[in-house]
Amino acid sequence: MAENKISLRGKNVLALSDFSADEINLILDTAIHMKKIIGGNNKKLPILSGKSIVTLFFEPSTRTRTSFELAGKYLGADVVNITAATSSVVKGESLRDTLYTVEAMGVDAIVMRHKAEGAAECAAKIARPVIINAGDGAHAHPSQGLLNLFTIREIKHRLQGLKVAIVGDILHSRVARSDIEGMSKMGIDIHVAGPSTLLPRFLAKDTRVTVHDNVEDALRDADAVEVLRIQTERMKGGLFPSTREYARVYGLNKERLALCKDDVILLHPGPMNKGWEISADVAYCENSFIQKEVTNGAAVRMALYKLILAEEEN
Ligand code: CP
Repeated sequence: MAENKISLRGKNVLALSDFSADEINLILDTAIHMKKIIGGNNKKLPILSGKSIVTLFFEPSTRTRTSFELAGKYLGADVVNITAATSSVVKGESLRDTLYTVEAMGVDAIVMRHKAEGAAECAAKIARPVIINAGDGAHAHPSQGLLNLFTIREIKHRLQGLKVAIVGDILHSRVARSDIEGMSKMGIDIHVAGPSTLLPRFLAKDTRVTVHDNVEDALRDADAVEVLRIQTERMKGGLFPSTREYARVYGLNKERLALCKDDVILLHPGPMNKGWEISADVAYCENSFIQKEVTNGAAVRMALYKLILAEEEN
């Protein structure tokens, strides 16, 4: 009987809820090969030659935008970056018209970040190019969820059955939501903790996660910890007394890290508020894989491009 081969060709990347465990494994397996390219001498392969990609960012980014750009260039695509601040968006052009304009130039994929939840899904309905969601409000950041899975699997050589703690500002975190989508599919035991004002209501009914009243219980014997950034730019204020109090009760410091397994993997999507959600000594300790996440982010984004855009299996 013919093998039922998984193909992601032409698929939009809007949220990890749209991906099966087999599809996620295919992306992570492909990223292993892509990572070798990043570490090699020739970072210009013809896998996507003739393809064009636009990154369209309506919110600031360092890691995601740059790695999507480099990932495309490493695979031989033409990549153009548009940021809202330097585009006709400042003259009042709508998202719809911006997408039509980019599409009219014949691009194959648009990597988009926007402050509104559902913006990527909306773009996928409007525009013909493949849409890759690089973060839409607090909804989803699928490539970050994938790079977290890749980093954990690379070090632990498995995902099934691991205990992962996600701590901090979950309310505003698209990373936490993509983690929960992806990690639950891969059989990870997910524990969350944070100030009650920063825990979204849906968590109380979500059977995929265990919610803790205090961060210590979430961290105990964890195989990996993802510390989330306090997203002050999305807060109207009053969600916690002060950053000093937050650090005292919820911040990841050496004492709290010691509650985890000795070989715990420490993750943070970045950028970090050091001294708030994470202490500086912990951020750079031997358990920290925060820098490795950045390299892995480029590898995972290369894998997405290859699987979605490449004409032939390479
Ligand atoms: N992790 C992440 O999304 O970082 P940037 O905002 O720098 O892209």
